[in-house]
Formats: sequence, C-alpha cells, structure tokens
Amino acid sequence: MSSSVRKAVIPAAGLGTRFLPATKAVPKEMLPLVDKPSIQYVVEEAVSVGITDILIITGRAKRNVEDHFDRSVELEELLRQGGKEEELNAMRAIAGLARIHFIRQGQPLGLGHAVGMAADHVGDEPFAVLLPDDVCHPSSGILAGMLVAHEQTGSTVLGLKQVDRREVSLYGCVAFEPAGDSLVEVHDLVEKPAPDEAPSDLGVMGRYVLTPAVFAAIAATRPGRGGEIQLTDAIKGLLRQEKVFGYTFRDGRFDVGNKLDFLKATVTFALERDDLGPDFRAFLEQVVGAG
Ligand code: G1P
Repeated sequence: MSSSVRKAVIPAAGLGTRFLPATKAVPKEMLPLVDKPSIQYVVEEAVSVGITDILIITGRAKRNVEDHFDRSVELEELLRQGGKEEELNAMRAIAGLARIHFIRQGQPLGLGHAVGMAADHVGDEPFAVLLPDDVCHPSSGILAGMLVAHEQTGSTVLGLKQVDRREVSLYGCVAFEPAGDSLVEVHDLVEKPAPDEAPSDLGVMGRYVLTPAVFAAIAATRPGRGGEIQLTDAIKGLLRQEKVFGYTFRDGRFDVGNKLDFLKATVTFALERDDLGPDFRAFLEQVVGAG
C-alpha cells in the first residue's frame, strides 16, 4: 500500500497503574501477549501499512522498551553459538522493523503534550499516532482504512468505534455526520464526557492520522480533563481551521490496558498460533466444559 504517511508516533510514557503490581518494575508496554510485548504488535501494525519511521515517546522507567528494539549483541552471540537460527533471526528482525527513535516526555503533562513533543521529528508532514494500550489485530485493516480515508480527504482521520453509552466516559467522543462508507465528518470532540453529556456513542480508539497543523493546535491547548493537555482538545482546536474525519470500524481492537481485554487478546493470539493453538483450544474446551 502506498500512502503519504511515512512516520508514526507511539506515546508510551504512561505509568500503567491499572496493571499493578505487574507494572511496578516492568513498563506496561512490555507485558507480553503470548510471547511478544504488546508494543511490538503496535510497531508491527505501523510497519504493515508502510510506515518506516517510528518515534516512541517514553518516560522514566521505560528503558526496557528501548532495549527491546535495540540489537542485543550478547544474546545474538549466545543464540548463534547454540545453533538457534530461528530465534536469532527473530531477534535481529525486531531491531530491523523500522527506524525507531526515542525521546522522553520528562513530565506527565498529558497525551496532547506527549504528541507535541514529536513536532521537530515529524516536521511538516501528516503522521500516524498509535496508542499502545490499543492493540489492533493484524487482520483488522483499521490503520490501512484510515490511511485510505486520509488520502481521499487530505485531512485528519480518527479511528472511531461505537461503544456502550455507559462507556463513553472512557474515551474521546465525537459529534459527527455521515460522510460515506465507514466515514464520518467530525464537528466536535469531548474528552471523556459523562454518558448524558456525550455528543454520540462514537469513541476515539487510539488510532489517529494527523495533519502537521495539529502541532500548533497542541501548543495553543490549555490543560483540560485531569489537568492534562489533551490530544482530543487539540483536535477540537484544529476544527477551527481544517476538516476532521472519522473512520468507523467494529472489530479487531483490544484495550490491553484493561484486564479482561488483555486476556481476550492473549487467548485470541494464542489460538491463532500453529505451535500452540490446537493444544490450547483443547485445554480451553476442557476448562470451560468442566465449569
Ligand atoms: C486516551 C485518549 C482518549 C481515547 C483513548 C483511546 O485516553 O485521551 O481520547 O479515546 O485514549 O484508548 P486514555 O485511555 O489514555 O485515558
């Protein structure tokens, strides 16, 4: 697929308090779904749509994330000596996935502030933002669909999904009108509204294709919900000068910052594995059957 979007930003500075104690000493992005850290699925998703340059915004205590995407000469040498070719190639492939860069957010001032830190790196071109708490199944085609919508409209495109009314307060929520197949035009955004104040039940699902004008909008955004500079508020500011669209989808996204969804993602990916799937399915049938 060819697209004008070459760069992605992955904000990964969050503390992961929802997953304590697992995240006391391990970044939440390093928790594995089967045997791969969740952030690697997100990097692979970006690579799968032709993105070759990825900036990960980290913070304190996230060194493991940097190490994961770096070469590990000692480990590679051990695997080579042990004749473990397959593992060796897999380790080398991680470091070769894309050009991966890191900067630190320094202060936890919010998602909008984190994305704003990418301004110099991204420059004057459209880019994707992938929140690593949201893992999309490789066959979901969500980001690919968003990039097609961006090519059609030349505008910012948000990944949107209909959610239960009671859950809108977990998401950025949009006011919209239909604009074609899977496409809506966004007229307003509210970060985490109360259910009775939400403009609709369409929530932003952690995938964005943004025009570079968002950086000026972020710079002009004052702290909002939770005292943080919210990306949702910056995109609302962008609406004053540009159109904003939403790409709607139903399936294929897991909120791996949520324990139940984390388990669903783990089970889904394990069942699809040739080496684990058949035995794991038999085990699940036995457990559920026994219940
Ligand atoms: C963030 C955004 C929110 C978005 C959500 C998607 O919230 O602020 O607008 O809907 O991600 O997962 P968080 O879940 O980081 O609190």
